Amino acid sequence: MWGGRFAEGPSAIMREINASIPFDKALWRQDIAGSRAHVSMLAKQGIVSEDDAKAIDEGLQQVAAEYERDGVPEDWDLEDIHMTVEARLTELIGPVAGRLHTARSRNDQVATDFRLWVGEATGRARDGIAALQRALVTRADEHTASVMPGFTHLQTAQPVTLGHHLLAYYEMLRRDASRFADNAARADECPLGAAALAGTGFDLDREMTADALGFGRPTANSLDTVSDRDFALDYLQAASQCALHLSRLAEELILWASQPFGFVRLPDSLSTGSSIMPQKKNPDAAELVRGHAGRIIGAATALMVTMKGLPLAYSKDMQDDKPPVFEAAGLLDLCLAAMAGMIEGATFDTDRMRAAAGLGHATATDLADWLVREADIPFREAHHITGAAVKLADAKGCTLEDLSLDDLRGIDARLDERVRKVLTLDASVAARSSYGGTAPVRVREQVATARRALGLES
Ligand code: ARG
Repeated sequence: MWGGRFAEGPSAIMREINASIPFDKALWRQDIAGSRAHVSMLAKQGIVSEDDAKAIDEGLQQVAAEYERDGVPEDWDLEDIHMTVEARLTELIGPVAGRLHTARSRNDQVATDFRLWVGEATGRARDGIAALQRALVTRADEHTASVMPGFTHLQTAQPVTLGHHLLAYYEMLRRDASRFADNAARADECPLGAAALAGTGFDLDREMTADALGFGRPTANSLDTVSDRDFALDYLQAASQCALHLSRLAEELILWASQPFGFVRLPDSLSTGSSIMPQKKNPDAAELVRGHAGRIIGAATALMVTMKGLPLAYSKDMQDDKPPVFEAAGLLDLCLAAMAGMIEGATFDTDRMRAAAGLGHATATDLADWLVREADIPFREAHHITGAAVKLADAKGCTLEDLSLDDLRGIDARLDERVRKVLTLDASVAARSSYGGTAPVRVREQVATARRALGLES
């Protein structure tokens, strides 16, 4: 491509370190779409003739058909997907192919291709999130009144409903989806026409190429355009946040599937066995979702570090932008699909959950709240009295509900039998009816809101 200026060709090492074709061949569809938009604009502006543009466009379509059928050939001498396509086009239509690169550089070309690719990955992430949200909301709907222990510090805190717990992840994913949506709006600008870094003297119609490629408008500053990878970082950061949420859900499923918990059985189709222990069923898919979060977050870190010291405009370091994004996107798509499958296929053991919720005096706060309400005792004092009741129940090896009237009176004269009705698990969750609370009545409302937002029938 640049033989005119060079006395000798690149060494084997140079060819190897320089080649991005092994990974950027994934951009071939975007590259050909970008070239077709560019050449049709060049023709409309009278920069290339209609005949030449037609030959180039037909040649590009033929290249696309070949790649679709046979895959993209990987020749390190051709360095990247842009030169690979152009070389094949030249073989097919001859020197007229050389007119395609008028008023264009690989710098605005790669920025365009990659933006298009990341835009598609963003759409896939939003679809994958919506599918997982549908699974969560469907299961939450079945369990608006199923009681389970709620934890803080992984210690039993207060009873909650399983539906409420599942909808917590629906909310996290709602924020994740909105981050991807924000990214899409911000990246809706077409780099094509920025050329190498300074723009071009040819009379381009950048609105036309932007429109043809589905962008809202062209980018405004050519220097920024060819050196901006914010769109890729936005993707990786949103993917990291989403993967982090998936990892937390995965961790809970792993914990809940363990024998001491026994809250859930994961579907066989997303579990594995052990080669030595016949009884084992391992939550490998969940563990890998948890593990892959590390790789996705690592990809975001990798690209941030690649970009952080680069002066304007393009530097070859930026070629390293693609592997982390491709890797993270593949992993995120897979993790979202695996998690949706696990949630859809999970069998929740609501009896075990309810039994576990009864351990650890989970309704102690209800006793303290009762003292505040019925005896007008300041909450701090009520907390202290309740602590004494917990201590006595522990000493007797019983629950708060099992304490006798004498026991209660001995702790504080203002306690009486009426308190028992607030100490049951169902009474406890029903009482937490503040907006956003765990009460079945509130969870049913949240399920209905979520179903509407997801376009599910209510
Ligand atoms: N393979 C390059 C990349 O992915 C294409 C851009 C090359 N530009 C240049 N000025 N050498 O970044």
